[in-house]
Amino acid sequence: MEYKRISDANIITEKYMDSILIEERLIDSVVADTAIEFFGKKYDSPVMTPAFSHLANYNGRELNGLEEYSLAAKELNILNFVGMMENEGFKKIADTGADTVRIIKPYADNGKVRDQMQFAKEVGAAGIGMDIDHIFGGEGYDVVVGEKMGPQTADMLASYVEDYGLPFTVKGVLSVSDAVKCAKIGAKAIIVSHHHGRLPYAVPPMMVLPKIKEALKGTDVKIIVDCGIATGADVFKALALGADAAAVGRSMMPSLEEGGVRGVCDFVTRVNNDLRFIMSSTGFNSISSIDDSVLYNGPLP
Ligand SMILES: Cc1cc2nc3c(=O)[nH]c(=O)nc-3n(C[C@H](O)[C@H](O)[C@H](O)COP(=O)(O)O)c2cc1C
Repeated sequence: MEYKRISDANIITEKYMDSILIEERLIDSVVADTAIEFFGKKYDSPVMTPAFSHLANYNGRELNGLEEYSLAAKELNILNFVGMMENEGFKKIADTGADTVRIIKPYADNGKVRDQMQFAKEVGAAGIGMDIDHIFGGEGYDVVVGEKMGPQTADMLASYVEDYGLPFTVKGVLSVSDAVKCAKIGAKAIIVSHHHGRLPYAVPPMMVLPKIKEALKGTDVKIIVDCGIATGADVFKALALGADAAAVGRSMMPSLEEGGVRGVCDFVTRVNNDLRFIMSSTGFNSISSIDDSVLYNGPLP
C-alpha cells in the first residue's frame, strides 16, 4: 500500500496564494499606472521574466526560447533574467538588447563564477546574481548538468558585489536570516523563491515575504518574488505583501512554446492588464502605493 504525504512546496505555495482574498475600493479610484523604477531605470511593469536555462528551439524556430523571451522583455520594457549558461549563450542574450540580469550558478569552481560575472559585465548585463538555493543536493553539494556546486559564504558574495560593480541579486532567499545577510553584503535585490519546490515543505514565498520586508526596512534592497506566479492577482498579492516585483516562470511556458516572442508579449501584457484592473479596483493608482490593507486570509481552497 502506498503511503503518501503532500510535501510538494509548489502545491502548498499555490494553496497559500489562493487563500489570500482581495476587497474592492472603487469610489474615488482611477485607472492605475503599473510603471516601476528598478536599478535606476524605468520599466512599464513589475512583472519580470524568470531566470530560466536549458530551453529548446520551439516548433523548429530559429531562435532559442531564452532569446525569444529576452526579445519579448525588450519589447515589453520589463527587466529580463536568465539562468545557467556558458558565456557563448549569454552573448546571444546580451545581443537581444534586453536589460538582463545574469543569475550565475554557485559553481564549486570559483574561477568559473568570476569568469561568468566578468563576461556579463563586459557584454553590458544590467546586473549579475547567484541562485544560492542550488548549493546543496541529496548527496552533498549539488551537481547540475555535470557541474559541481560549492558553498558560498557571505564574504564571497560581498566580493562579487565589490569586484564587478553591477547591481547584485541573490536568488533563492527564503528567510529573514539570509535576507539580512544579503543587505549586509550590499546586494541590490533578492528573489524570494524556493526554486520550484527544491525544498520539501518550503514556506510559500508570500508567507515569509512580510517578515522579510520588515527586516529590510530602511535598506535599498529590492524584493522580487517568484514560484507559481501566473496571474495579475498573484502579482498584486506579492506586491501587497511587500514585494517590488514578481517573476512569471513556468506559467509563461505554453505561450512561449506556441507563440515565441509574440506569445510572451501577449501573456505578460495580459498579466499586467489584470494587475492594473485589480489595482484600479482596490484604489491603488501606483505600484509603490499598494499595501496589504485590502487583503484577507480566507480558508484554504
Ligand atoms: C526550465 C527551467 C530552467 C530553470 N533554470 C534556472 C537557472 O538556471 N537558474 C535559476 O536560478 N533558476 C532556474 N529555474 C528556476 C526559475 O527561475 C524559478 O525560480 C522557478 O521556476 C519558480 O518559478 P515558477 O514557479 O514561476 O516557475 C529554472 C526553472 C525552469 C522551469
